[in-house]
Amino acid sequence: MGFWKSTRPTGAVPASPIWKGYLCRLEDLPMFPSWAAEALEVANRPDCSLRDLARVIQRDLLLSAGILKLANSSLYCVGREVTSIEQAVIRLGLVRCRHAIVAVGMRSLWRETARQLSPRWAQFLWHHALFVAAIASRLARCLHLPFQGEELVAGLAHDLGRLVLALQNCPAPLAQQSHAFLESPDVLAQEREHLGADHTQIGTWFLQINRLPAFLADVAEFHHHPERAGQRRDLVALTAVAEDLANLWYAALHSSAYELRMSTNDWLRNHFGCTLNGSREIPPSPEIQAGPYRGLHPVQVILQEAAREVQQNAW
Ligand SMILES: [Fe+2]
Ligand SMILES: [Fe+2]
Repeated sequence: MGFWKSTRPTGAVPASPIWKGYLCRLEDLPMFPSWAAEALEVANRPDCSLRDLARVIQRDLLLSAGILKLANSSLYCVGREVTSIEQAVIRLGLVRCRHAIVAVGMRSLWRETARQLSPRWAQFLWHHALFVAAIASRLARCLHLPFQGEELVAGLAHDLGRLVLALQNCPAPLAQQSHAFLESPDVLAQEREHLGADHTQIGTWFLQINRLPAFLADVAEFHHHPERAGQRRDLVALTAVAEDLANLWYAALHSSAYELRMSTNDWLRNHFGCTLNGSREIPPSPEIQAGPYRGLHPVQVILQEAAREVQQNAW
């Protein structure tokens, strides 16, 4: 398979991708853990049964612990606590289990990489990935969107390119850009200036060399321009909206102004009948007629709950 997928718009590929040469030479470039890759391979076999899946997960302690934690986490499922891998696998089902394996492997990759980052960036980038994943997951649940855990993994993976750029020995370390918390067009332009590629291209490449599912590469590549996505447009759009809302939350925490993207406002209008600014135009949903969330737009409730969830280190 070629590096660039056919869905890429023409003209977007740098003429000379020097950055790939730089990044390939990074000795400490983190990789998706082999135990998760092996489990994923078994899970992807067409004849894989839930029993096979439980067996392969049980082979690895880290994976078992991660799957159990995820199966009991409000990020992924709601219900009674499960205490064994067999129960977790039955609760999740085959498709969610595949995504859960990717999520557990991804968390391990983040943890491994965090050792090479400045603590400030390690904390921020993981918080951002988890926050976007939590928002996407809650939006999907609230709107009954037909996802089965891929929205969570997409949130975790969307900015993997930023993780690579934040490595201390990377030629264009993100950590040197003190203003780079918000993913403004300026920040993306600076990334391109330094390496000839921004984090969307680097993230896509990184996901592909790690042989992670193709839908994640689509999300990484197009999350700043969801309208350009050729495949999995629904998932790319959801991740882009979740990221924009996360950035709105950060801006509010830092008392900075932040404008949601036009595509986010369109998405909110399509799914909720109005944008976040127009919250007074819609009646509050029946579930939030009382209590601390009374009168809030459902998206504001989602943001508050997702922020609390991440703060409590839900997963
Ligand atoms: Fe992001
Ligand atoms: Fe991004």
